[in-house]
Amino acid sequence: MARIELEQVAKSWGDVVAVEPTDLVIEDGEFVAILGPSGCGKSTTLFMLAGIYAPTGGEIRFDGHLVNRVEARDRNVGIVFQSYALYPHMTVAKNIRFPLKFKGVPADEAARRVSEAARLVHVEELLDRLPAEMSGGQQQRVALARALVKEPQLLLLDEPLSNLDATLRLTMRAEIRRLQRRLGVTTILVTHDQIEATTMADRVVCMSKGRIEQIGTADDLYQRPNKLFVASFIGAPPINLLDGRAERGTVRVGELTLPASGIEGAVVLGIRPEHLGLSAPGHGLAGRILTVEPLGRETLYEVATPLGSLRVLEAGSERRWREGDASGVTVPDEALLIFDKASERRLETASLALAEAA
Ligand SMILES: Nc1ncnc2c1ncn2[C@@H]1O[C@H](COP(=O)(O)OP(=O)(O)O)[C@@H](O)[C@H]1O
Ligand SMILES: [Mg+2]
Repeated sequence: MARIELEQVAKSWGDVVAVEPTDLVIEDGEFVAILGPSGCGKSTTLFMLAGIYAPTGGEIRFDGHLVNRVEARDRNVGIVFQSYALYPHMTVAKNIRFPLKFKGVPADEAARRVSEAARLVHVEELLDRLPAEMSGGQQQRVALARALVKEPQLLLLDEPLSNLDATLRLTMRAEIRRLQRRLGVTTILVTHDQIEATTMADRVVCMSKGRIEQIGTADDLYQRPNKLFVASFIGAPPINLLDGRAERGTVRVGELTLPASGIEGAVVLGIRPEHLGLSAPGHGLAGRILTVEPLGRETLYEVATPLGSLRVLEAGSERRWREGDASGVTVPDEALLIFDKASERRLETASLALAEAA
C-alpha cells in the first residue's frame, strides 16, 4: 500500500489544459473519489498516476519516491477502466493472469493468485469462459480481479460502474467498498456520480475544469460547499440559486430584503429544495404551484414566488398540492448559503434570516 502525493501536477495537450497544477495527498489505505462532470480532468489525473500519461509539470510520489519517470508496469498499480478492456480471445483465467506475465511470478504462485483474485470478486466459476460469454457485471468483476492479482500498492477505478444497470451498481458499490476495506489498498475512484462518490469513498475530491474545487467528506461538500460550483454539483434535485445584492447590512433578492451583516456586493443565494417547505398561503413567501413531480418517496414541486421560481422537495409520496394551488413557502434560516458572485466563494455572514424578512 502507498501514500500518494501530487505536487503541482499538471497536464496539457498543446493549448488544451486537462489538469491545472494540482496538489493532493492520499493517505496509505485511504479510499478517495474524484468527482466531477465529464471532461473536467478526472481520467487524465488517474492516467498520470497509473503512468499511462506523463505529466507536463509537477511531481508524483508514492511513499515519498518520485515516480514521474517510472514506467506504468513498474508502478505496481491496478487499474479498472470503464470499458473493462478485457482481452476478447482470452479466457477469464488468462485475462486475470495477464498482469503477472512479465513479472517472473512462478507458475504455481500465479495460479494461486489467480484463483484468490477470482474468489475475491466471485468469478471462480467462470474461469474458462470468454469475455463475450459473460454479462457486463461479470466482465467488470473480472476486470477488478485482473487489477487485484498484482497485489497493487494503488488501485485506480475509472467510472467502473457506469455501464452496469441500477441494481447491479448498488451491489457492486457495496462490494467494492467492502473489498477495499478488507485489503486495505489505497484506492482512487473516478466518477461523475455524486452518490457513488459519497457512499464509497472516505473523502471526495470535487473537480471542475481541471481544478480541485473542494476536498472533504460527503457532509462537508453538501453542508459547507466552499464554492458555488460544489453547491450546484452536489445535491439532487439541484440547489436553488438566486441573484442578490449585499449592502449596508442587508441582502436584497428580488423585492425582498434580508438582514445579512459583514458582506458587500453582488451575491448568489443558495437554498436546497429539501430545506424549503410548503405551507398554507400567508406563511412564508407567497407561492403558486407550477409543476408537481412525483419521485416515489418524495415529491418535487416547482413554485413561483416573489424570488423567482423555486424547487421545493417534500418527503412522502402523498401529493398535498396541485398545479395552480396557492401556497406559502417556508425557509429555515440555517438552510441558506450565500456566495460572492464574482469569486463564487461562499461567504460567512453573521445573520441571514429569510423567514423573518418574508
Ligand atoms: N489524449 C488526449 N488528447 C487531447 N485532449 C485530451 C486527451 N485526453 C483528454 N483530453 C482532454 O482533456 C480534458 C479532460 O479529459 P478527461 O480527463 O478525460 O476528463 P474526465 O475523465 O473528467 O471526463 C478534456 O477536455 C479532454 O477533451
Ligand atoms: Mg473520464
